[in-house]
Amino acid sequence: MEKQRLFTGLQPSGDLHIGNYFGALKPFLDLYPKYESFLMVADYHSLTSLRDPDTLQRNILNVVRDYMAVGVDPEEVVIFRQSDNPDHTELAWVLNCMVTVPFLQQGHAYKDKVAKGLEPNVGLFTYPILQAADIVLYDTDVVPVGEDQRQHLEYTREAVGKFNRAYKETLKEPETVIVEGVGIVPGTDGQKMSKSYGNVIPLFGESNEIEKAVMSIVTDSEGNIPENVLAIHKLFRDEDELLSLYEKNAGKYGELKKILSADINSFIEPLKAKRARITDSEVREVLAEGARKAKEVSQSVMERVRDTIGINLN
Ligand code: TYM
Repeated sequence: MEKQRLFTGLQPSGDLHIGNYFGALKPFLDLYPKYESFLMVADYHSLTSLRDPDTLQRNILNVVRDYMAVGVDPEEVVIFRQSDNPDHTELAWVLNCMVTVPFLQQGHAYKDKVAKGLEPNVGLFTYPILQAADIVLYDTDVVPVGEDQRQHLEYTREAVGKFNRAYKETLKEPETVIVEGVGIVPGTDGQKMSKSYGNVIPLFGESNEIEKAVMSIVTDSEGNIPENVLAIHKLFRDEDELLSLYEKNAGKYGELKKILSADINSFIEPLKAKRARITDSEVREVLAEGARKAKEVSQSVMERVRDTIGINLN
């Protein structure tokens, strides 16, 4: 039997944090061997917020290095970047013509910008449509993501439904996979860990950076168990073990933070060593090969779409 397809993506908008790892990368690592899997660097998506070309280039190479360092095997997974395959922007245009403006106006990212009085760019507005194109171009069956992407997957289903009803059954509707317990990894302030909130613990940070981030975890001055520390610690150690550790160190927030820092560092050390051995040229080769494989699959889906909508002249 042919394997089902799995697809996910990450923006190269900055260094990966432990929320990306536990919310998306780890679930991806656990799932990908069972599927024909695609992992995409969403570099066009990151243009909605990132305007520095040198930073973008560095982030693209780094994020691929990160994937490989945590254990994504480029022989087994198609690792590629969005901008290497023009089918993504082409299909996004077609899907833009399916979804309504009022529906897109409900988008969280868009609404947040507007609520803050910031000027949203058109790219941010139609961001979920480009994401829908990313996914359906590969006849994707499952999409493992963190909770914050749930709405985007709803947009994908909306676009697929609208398209299939307007024309005929052409695009596949994907299923969202959100792993329980890690859908929202909290940051140092207890809110969702996010670069834009400045509350991250970097995945590949230097040990002093990790320690600094951990020391900044907000703890209330009462109570024996620092919940925000424990919530992050649970990602690195067994809960039963932690319970006795936290009971033993009741009220000693600084001590518990030091233990958490050390646990994060010992988790990350071997991955860091692996990461340091991955060269830029290796990454570029992986991306070139990934682009070739991705296009091979998306081309046939794009042709199907062109046939369906009448762009292909008979
Ligand atoms: P991005 O780059 O913001 O995040 C990458 C992945 O990390 C997850 N994540 C989290 N999970 C749990 N807790 C957190 N604190 C946390 N922070 C981030 C995200 O849910 C995501 O799974 N739009 C996407 C990129 C994208 C994509 C796609 C994803 C583009 N095309 C197609 C899937 C399929 C994004 O901005 O992810």
